[in-house]
Formats: sequence, structure tokens, C-alpha cells
Amino acid sequence: MSPDTSVVDDPTETAVEMEQDSYLRLRGVSKEFPVAAGTVTALDGIDLSLPKGGFGALIGPSGCGKSTMLRLLADLLPPTSGTIEINGRPPSEARKERQIGFVFQDPTLLPWRSVLDNVRLPEQVSGRTAGFSGLTPMELIELVGLAGFEDARPSQLSGGMRQRVAIARALVLQPEVLLLDEPFGALDEITRQRMNIELLSIWSQTGVTALLVTHSIGEAALMADTVFVLSARPGRIAEVVDVDLPRPRTLEMMNTEAFNAAENALRRALFGGGE
Ligand SMILES: Nc1ncnc2c1ncn2[C@@H]1O[C@H](COP(=O)(O)OP(=O)(O)OP(=O)(O)O)[C@@H](O)[C@H]1O
Ligand SMILES: [Mg+2]
Repeated sequence: MSPDTSVVDDPTETAVEMEQDSYLRLRGVSKEFPVAAGTVTALDGIDLSLPKGGFGALIGPSGCGKSTMLRLLADLLPPTSGTIEINGRPPSEARKERQIGFVFQDPTLLPWRSVLDNVRLPEQVSGRTAGFSGLTPMELIELVGLAGFEDARPSQLSGGMRQRVAIARALVLQPEVLLLDEPFGALDEITRQRMNIELLSIWSQTGVTALLVTHSIGEAALMADTVFVLSARPGRIAEVVDVDLPRPRTLEMMNTEAFNAAENALRRALFGGGE
């Protein structure tokens, strides 16, 4: 597919595209998996868009296709139908250029490598560095609050610290897009909230476009500009909820009317409609 600029000759259409300013975009995306009994439809007709530097959250019941959607965006799986664009190009190109950082639910660190060598791994595997404008592995380790732990092994770190290493590693090639699959799902509530605030600060300092999968209504409301609420399988976008809270977000904001309103809107979208 050609980028919009080269195929669109209708100026109004170009204007609409630009106005929407979408950096991540899924159009009519479906994903089916072959299984013994036939096929499982994990995602069905997903339309989603997120502007450059935006923060989106995906929320929905277990099995509704959230992880699948991240894998499609990261070019780890092909869609069955529909189109996916990252800055107007297919995910395969973004992946080739290492523009996608992925943080999995389990940190998946190499246990025999130090923190620093885990963070360096993508550079070593790809044979490239983030370049002049990027942060060095050591700077990233500082950014995620692990200065002094660069020589530690993963087994010497807490779960939250390991996830921070995984975030630093996902950022080392200075990706344009950061995909986060329940990165703090295994942590206690207090640690998780602190990590969320740290993640927001990293996001604003790097300018990366972030999409976070979460099971937590509060987390979605705290982090995102836009929350995409998915329905149960097959996953469809049930509702798109904009969170109207100023930046930078703080934990104190969780006690405000605006935060409650966002949480209620999400709760209604998830549980409303008599389901
Ligand atoms: N490789 C696969 N082969 C067959 N079915 C799959 C495969 N990957 C996912 N599925 C199915 O697709 C559906 C969506 O799975 P997915 O992991 O995306 O859900 P999820 O929303 O991330 O769930 P959770 O919140 O529990 O992590 C599930 O029914 C799952 O069984
Ligand atoms: Mg999942």
C-alpha cells in the first residue's frame, strides 16, 4: 500500500486524514486463529487510531484479543483482514526499522546477563544503536530509576525493578511506538501506581506513542488520553472513552471528579448495557 500522500488526490480527504493525525491506525482489522474445531475469531472489525505521541489504553475481558492486537501491531502476527499502519506504513516496515518497543507481561530478561547487558541486548542483536539523539543504555537505566543496579542480575531485583529493566530495554533503540502488555499486572497496587507515574514521565520525556493493555479501569483512566474498550470475544471496540484530565497526571488526580467521571464511563462501557 502506498502512503496516503502519494495516492490521495482529493484535497478534502487529505485534510481529513491530517486532521485525524493518526500515527497508529487499524482499519477493519480481524484476526482468526485456526483451531482443531474450526476457527477462533479473536478480533473482529477493529478500527482504532492514535496520534503521534499519544497514550492509548486497551481494556476488556480476558480473551477479548488485547494481546493479539499488540502482536498484530508489532508484526509478530499477520491480520486475517484489514489494514494496520504505523505512520502510514505497514508494521513489517516499522519492525524492520526497529521502531516498535514491546514490553511483555513477563519481563523475559536473560538471567545470566546483568541489567546493563539486558538493556543492551537489542543493540547487540540488531547491530545498531539508537543514534545521536537517543539515550544510551546507561541513561535509560537512570531514566527508569535503576542507577546503581546496572551490574545486578535479574534474580537480584524485585518484580517491579525487572519490569523497569524490560521498559529500558524496549526503549533502547529509541522506538517510535511502545506497546505494553499488562507490564505491571503482577505488582501490588502501591508499587503499580508508582510505576505508572514513572512510566508517564518516561513517555513524556521520550515522546514515544504508547499503547497499554490493562485490566484496571483506574490504570486506564490514570494513564491514557483515549481508552479503547473491547467487548468479549470476538473482540470488537465497544466504546472509545476520552479521558479529560490535564498532564502531567498525578496520583492525587485519582481523587477528583473528572477522574471519577472517566472511571464511571469506563465501567459503564465494560459492564453496562445489561451484560
Ligand atoms: N496462537 C493462538 N492460537 C489459537 N488461538 C489463539 C492464539 N492466540 C490467541 N488465541 C485466542 O484468541 C483469543 C484472544 O487471545 P488474547 O491473548 O489476545 O486475549 P487477551 O485479551 O490478551 O486476554 P487476557 O486478558 O487474558 O490476556 C483467545 O480466545 C485465545 O484463545
Ligand atoms: Mg493478554
